[in-house]
Amino acid sequence: MKSINKTVNSAIKRHDLDASGFDSLYKGLDNSSKARAFTLGRNLIVEELDTFLKTLPQGAKILDVGCGTGHLTNQIKQKGYDVYGIEPSSEMLKIAKKNFPSIPLRSDISSKISFDNDYFDAIIALEVLRYLDKEENHNSLKEFHRCLKEGGLFFVTQVNAFSTDFYYFFYHLKSLYSLIFNKVTHHCYFTTPRAQEILGKKCGFKKIKTIGLFFGSSRLAFKFGKKFGNFYYGFLNKISQQRITRYFYKAFCGHLVVIGKK
Ligand SMILES: C[S@@+](CC[C@H](N)C(=O)[O-])C[C@H]1O[C@@H](n2cnc3c(N)ncnc32)[C@H](O)[C@@H]1O
Repeated sequence: MKSINKTVNSAIKRHDLDASGFDSLYKGLDNSSKARAFTLGRNLIVEELDTFLKTLPQGAKILDVGCGTGHLTNQIKQKGYDVYGIEPSSEMLKIAKKNFPSIPLRSDISSKISFDNDYFDAIIALEVLRYLDKEENHNSLKEFHRCLKEGGLFFVTQVNAFSTDFYYFFYHLKSLYSLIFNKVTHHCYFTTPRAQEILGKKCGFKKIKTIGLFFGSSRLAFKFGKKFGNFYYGFLNKISQQRITRYFYKAFCGHLVVIGKK
């Protein structure tokens, strides 16, 4: 696939290599401490997505951008929606087609979607736009705007720059390692709730809402093992919510959900 944006290429390359690992993760076959932290954060995102989906009528047309191995796409389909997927990594796409042959899947990227104008009621992109730079995020939201019906909604996840699990720091450390040892790496787009509101409006959306999920430093705690991570997460749940809508605090969560209305 031809592409001029460097971060698009690096995201595809990274996921071509990680495809079977993701498949194991979504099938619940990975028992590591990292997988446990991933699943806890993931459950919060899926819960939020369920709330979002309930606002749509049954049979609504939904596009899953960067659908990966297709597991989430299939869950949405099973809830009674008319779901389509796009996935540019050939390895991910191969697995998705094998896992769920009845779901219509295409090999598009988020900024160039081969569907007509005003086609979808909703577009979702979970853990996708975070791999692309600011310019490509802008291009993607503009493309979502084109493909959504009037009043249509998007639901995406992003990475908070000020997340208290210090991913900003770990990402840059890992990138340095990859640079020195010539490993395949990917871009990470760090953002804030305010920046997402500005970007969404710039791309033509009338309303933008942001929600912080995975409050506290849970992911960091799992770096000290599953036992400590579980203990810390249990403790955090007693003293704080994991879903944050208050402006100041949501910028410190591990996941940032952004919802926009055309
Ligand atoms: C971490 S996976 C998430 C998969 C799926 N959305 C989920 O949450 O289960 C990110 C996916 O985005 C895909 N991707 C990377 N760059 C993309 C782009 N420019 N447009 C659409 N998808 C992209 C990757 O190939 C990968 O399958």
